[in-house]
Amino acid sequence: MGPEQSHLVPLLKGSKPNVSCFSVFPHVWCHDFVIPVLILFCSCHKLQESLLSSASGYSNYRGILNWCVVMLILSNARLFLENLIKYGILVDPIQVISLFLKDPYSWPALCLIIFSNVFIMAALYTERRLSVGTFGERLGTFLHLINLSTILCLPVATVLFVSSMTPVGAVFALAVYTILFLKLYSYKDVNRWCRDIRQARAASWGLREASTQVSYPGNLTHRDMYYFIFAPTLCYELNFPRSPRIRKRFLLRRLFEMVFLMQLLVGLIQQWMVPTIQNSMKPFQDMDFSRMIERLLKLAVPNHLIWLIFFYWFFHSSMNFVAELMQFGDREFYRDWWNSETVTYFWANWNIPVHKWCLRHFYKPMLKRGVSKRVAQAAVFLVSAFFHEYLVSVPLKMFRLWAFMGMMVQVPLAWFVGQFLRGNYGNAAVWISLIIGQPIAVLMYVHDYYVLHVQGPSAG
Ligand SMILES: CC(C)(COP(=O)(O)OP(=O)(O)OC[C@H]1O[C@@H](n2cnc3c(N)ncnc32)[C@H](O)[C@@H]1OP(=O)(O)O)[C@@H](O)C(=O)NCCC(=O)NCCS
Repeated sequence: MGPEQSHLVPLLKGSKPNVSCFSVFPHVWCHDFVIPVLILFCSCHKLQESLLSSASGYSNYRGILNWCVVMLILSNARLFLENLIKYGILVDPIQVISLFLKDPYSWPALCLIIFSNVFIMAALYTERRLSVGTFGERLGTFLHLINLSTILCLPVATVLFVSSMTPVGAVFALAVYTILFLKLYSYKDVNRWCRDIRQARAASWGLREASTQVSYPGNLTHRDMYYFIFAPTLCYELNFPRSPRIRKRFLLRRLFEMVFLMQLLVGLIQQWMVPTIQNSMKPFQDMDFSRMIERLLKLAVPNHLIWLIFFYWFFHSSMNFVAELMQFGDREFYRDWWNSETVTYFWANWNIPVHKWCLRHFYKPMLKRGVSKRVAQAAVFLVSAFFHEYLVSVPLKMFRLWAFMGMMVQVPLAWFVGQFLRGNYGNAAVWISLIIGQPIAVLMYVHDYYVLHVQGPSAG
């Protein structure tokens, strides 16, 4: 600091200078103008944290997010080019048809789906009989259980014994039957609750509300049943919330997304996923661990991208399309699972129709019977694990329990993340489990399928 500047120190500290400022700036306007300006220019520091330290409270990372997107696009563009140079164009729409049909004169998956109407009618007629008292509660429950068990067993038998059923056709048919199982289970429960309420009302002097809403047993019609079967929900209600009109632009936008994203999904699977999986077989057979991990990480990228696109295609585009067409008002098909800081938050928010079903027809009834929360949660994951395994093992005709274990491992994982990781660390753990967990299961099944169906017969 020079001699002139040292006169200013007391000024800046707020005390009176021992040297008059006139000796430095001998003008009349010194007090009125120069000193405030000097203070303004010289006090350039204040007590503050750096932006990137958490104590600063700074949270606007929009630019960083954009940077991530740009980096993602650039690195994927490179991968895209590398893939094209290495394999050429592998996308083949005709091949997609052959995935559904082995024999053009035999359509077992479609026949199975059409046949499912028999189970829908069985549930409706059982409920009609129960409503008028022709069937007692016990007989009704027994008939419903037979109906529901057949829904689960018939597609398994068809897949195992009909040779023209392809694995993709089988997944499709089994998914439809699983949805039907969950819907008819809900239908049975809700109608029973309605009977209980009717009995309670009859006991309290037969009080009846005058209402424009459908009331039990007025709901037991074909129209009501098929509205529920096609509606994008697994939980039955007598009066669903309805949207006032069909918005044509919204409907067309969702339709465009559905068609476009479907093409994109098929293209990405054929061009990116299939060759990566094929190249992974050798390291897995040789049990070359470092190459296995390299393959796993390589597969994780297309697998995760495809899963994200599938999420948007199914839970946003398709479900909103169907809901708009049917004027179904409740559009909460997913919540903000991407912000999950715990594994339980993820499972309770990424697939709302299944979560609502689990809560309403399985979890809460168990809690009401006095089962502890932890046991009830484990039981829900057990049922979910069964259905995941069912949807994979049966079409592949291969019982390996990888999907079952993948789902069951969520219980200790949820405990670990909830106990030891918080905030962003918890969120990162959820993302890592999604990005790495799925390709492990995919590679396990493909490897076993390859050994059993491709290598096995040729070796023989
Ligand atoms: C197991 C599962 C149902 C737990 O859900 P959760 O939201 O973490 O459960 P919570 O314990 O927080 O409670 C949920 C509800 O039960 C209620 N509840 C909690 N304890 C209760 C008790 N003792 N008695 C009655 N109700 C109770 C809560 O009030 C809450 O009600 P709300 O939804 O109306 O607010 C959920 O993790 C799940 O759905 N898992 C499986 C998901 C799955 O397999 N999906 C497959 C997708 S492919």
